Amino acid sequence: MEVSFDISKKVAVITGAGGVICGVMAREFAKKGARVALLDLFPERAQAIAGEINSLGGEAVAVKANVLERKSLEEARAEVLARFGRVDILVNGAGGNKKEATVSEDNPFFSMDLDAFKWVFDLNVTGAVLTTQVFGELLAKQGTGSVVNIASMASVLPLTNTVAYSGAKCAVANFTQWMAAHFNLNYSPNIRVNAIAPGFLLTEQNRFLMQNADGTSTARGDRVLDKTPMGRYGEPEELCGAVIWLCSDAASFVNGAVIPIDGGFSAYWGV
Ligand SMILES: NC(=O)c1ccc[n+]([C@@H]2O[C@H](COP(=O)([O-])OP(=O)(O)OC[C@H]3O[C@@H](n4cnc5c(N)ncnc54)[C@H](O)[C@@H]3O)[C@@H](O)[C@H]2O)c1
Repeated sequence: MEVSFDISKKVAVITGAGGVICGVMAREFAKKGARVALLDLFPERAQAIAGEINSLGGEAVAVKANVLERKSLEEARAEVLARFGRVDILVNGAGGNKKEATVSEDNPFFSMDLDAFKWVFDLNVTGAVLTTQVFGELLAKQGTGSVVNIASMASVLPLTNTVAYSGAKCAVANFTQWMAAHFNLNYSPNIRVNAIAPGFLLTEQNRFLMQNADGTSTARGDRVLDKTPMGRYGEPEELCGAVIWLCSDAASFVNGAVIPIDGGFSAYWGV
């Protein structure tokens, strides 16, 4: 049996592809020869990345999609099928946090806005479930495919203050395991559902927690770096190797796994 990391010619659908992490992922997938559909609520950002990929000789298309609306996802699915004819890979990348759903001195838990709490759950959990319903149906019919969800360190143990995000990402990890078994038991042993659990990257969604307005580290930022044995934040590119591996035949017996990519954060108590 040959071990192959090849994903060339596979069709990858990536949601949230106009964002920091999944934009980089789309570029890296394309460099490995995959054909990429970049789905995002704001397609102009995805369009710029798709244009860049195409100008470098890759194959990409930007598609407007709201992961919280079935009709929008079904239209996106039709557009992807019209362009590429099939789907092999789904990366559920759309997700994020909201300041109003993060507890602080100014936003005590007792009066935290539950609409914000539900927004975070909807985007991270319902969005991944609905997108997997719409695109997973194609994988079930063809009997092959790979889904990768984006969990978090907050999936393993909750992080202080980020009450909604921690619960939502815990649910993403649980859904990953549930879906892995569900696809195998009901549709095909050749469909795999896994997740990555990134450690700390400095991006727009968490910068307000890690850095002060003047760019210096917050006390929380210091604690994160102290508890990361590698002593630094990760870069989006450093998540891509594991995702490409998970989507290739090299990971043909990896299913229901949540892979930490965290500079050792989850391996270290801090003492
Ligand atoms: N940044 C980190 O440190 C970190 C760590 C762990 C996990 N993650 C997760 O990685 C994923 C990507 O994070 P990021 O930092 O690149 O975020 P980002 O905010 O840069 O990108 C998210 C993208 O999702 C899109 N989006 C938002 N709502 C949408 C919807 N309803 N339908 C379709 N698209 C929608 C946004 O337009 C944006 O382009 C998220 O799931 C996030 O929770 C991030």
